[in-house]
Amino acid sequence: MNNFNFYNPVKILFGKGKISELPRELPVDTRKVLITYGGGSILKNGVMQQVKAALQNFEVLEFGGIEPNPTFETLMKCVEFIRNNEVDFILAVGGGSVIDGTKFISAAVFADGDPWQIMLTRGAAIKKAMPFGAVLTLPATGSEMNSGGVVTRKSIQAKLVFGNSLVFPKFSILDPETTYSLPATQVANGIVDAYVHIMEQYLTYPVNAGPQDRFAEGLLQTLIEVGPQTLANPNDYDLRANFMWTATLALNGLIGAGVPQDWATHMVGHELTALFGIDHGKTLAILLPGMMKIRKMAKRTKLVQYAKNVWKLSSTNEDLLVEEAIRLTEEFFQTMTISTKLSEYGITEKDIPSIISHLESHGMTALGEHRDVTPQVVESVLRVQLS
Ligand code: NZQ
Ligand code: ZN
Repeated sequence: MNNFNFYNPVKILFGKGKISELPRELPVDTRKVLITYGGGSILKNGVMQQVKAALQNFEVLEFGGIEPNPTFETLMKCVEFIRNNEVDFILAVGGGSVIDGTKFISAAVFADGDPWQIMLTRGAAIKKAMPFGAVLTLPATGSEMNSGGVVTRKSIQAKLVFGNSLVFPKFSILDPETTYSLPATQVANGIVDAYVHIMEQYLTYPVNAGPQDRFAEGLLQTLIEVGPQTLANPNDYDLRANFMWTATLALNGLIGAGVPQDWATHMVGHELTALFGIDHGKTLAILLPGMMKIRKMAKRTKLVQYAKNVWKLSSTNEDLLVEEAIRLTEEFFQTMTISTKLSEYGITEKDIPSIISHLESHGMTALGEHRDVTPQVVESVLRVQLS
């Protein structure tokens, strides 16, 4: 096992009716709370109502309109709003985009100079951040219990990641009932996103990290089990609870401590979203099977372990095990109703050069756990998933 530091200060309030406990979690001197939210789903499904009822003894301000794949342009409007109103605490209510956007806002309020530096330095420029909490309505990203975020600058089609321990939420409230209103496509995206988060931290090379591997395998098996069921039974509490907590555990730092990590699928996925507007989860469903096919030699030992422990395959022929595990992974995403082929999103061979040149312009020329995922390798990955 590699050396590691593990730090996660996020308090989780999990379960039915937990939004009512919100006031107890706010810092004692809080008077004005700013609720940040997205395109309005929380106004229709009763979540905003629950949040406002919980905050009845506080002055509440609102900033809505944070879009999926939150943009720098929109987030800076919120920064301006905060500078003009004395806000004590921010409460992000929504999915990963609202929470990521709120992380950026909380740091950008205190930025010296150009806040885009936060993104260009991958978060290193953050020196101070406003305190914030979250009410999660979409299990997927793990943003509710980590210190990372992804922000898009529309004007230059750049989707970049940042992270800093100053932007951990103070607390996150996870009530599975808030997810009942999710459209099926977002449930599917969430299952795939969580699955691929686990794979980015698991499917590398062995370092004798037993607890991390067993945790990861258990989380993957839980998603394989509950994914199709929760898609078919949106109002089943236990299924949603298992999905929600698995997605949080997939990216709260626990399974990634002391092990090599990949993240090439995500970095290329961000370019597909920035260029073509494909949902984050869908980009991963296309790219992960491609990465597995093209990089199967470098990942062989872990692929065999994955085949045996997650898919319970038992052949003595390792080549067969690897092929079957890759096939089952791609089939699982398709069972979740997500297409894994670029052509089904209208992307053809002629789009490949622009994907590669965007990747290069963002310095993503040596990705993966061995830093051997060059633009040439990415091109092969894209080609194998064309149709
Ligand atoms: O905006 P509203 O109206 O709320 O609607 C949203 C949005 O249209 C809707 N939605 C959310 N909860 C709902 C709901 N609709 C009905 N009922 C509910 N309960 O779902 C749509 C998508 O929401 P979004 O927040 O964009 O989805 P997700 O949670 O998948 O977040 C995606 C973003 O997170 C980033 C992605 O890159 C992307 O920008 N990621 C963040 C990570 C992190 N912070 O660690 C890691 C991930 O890899 C990911 O990259
Ligand atoms: Zn993701």
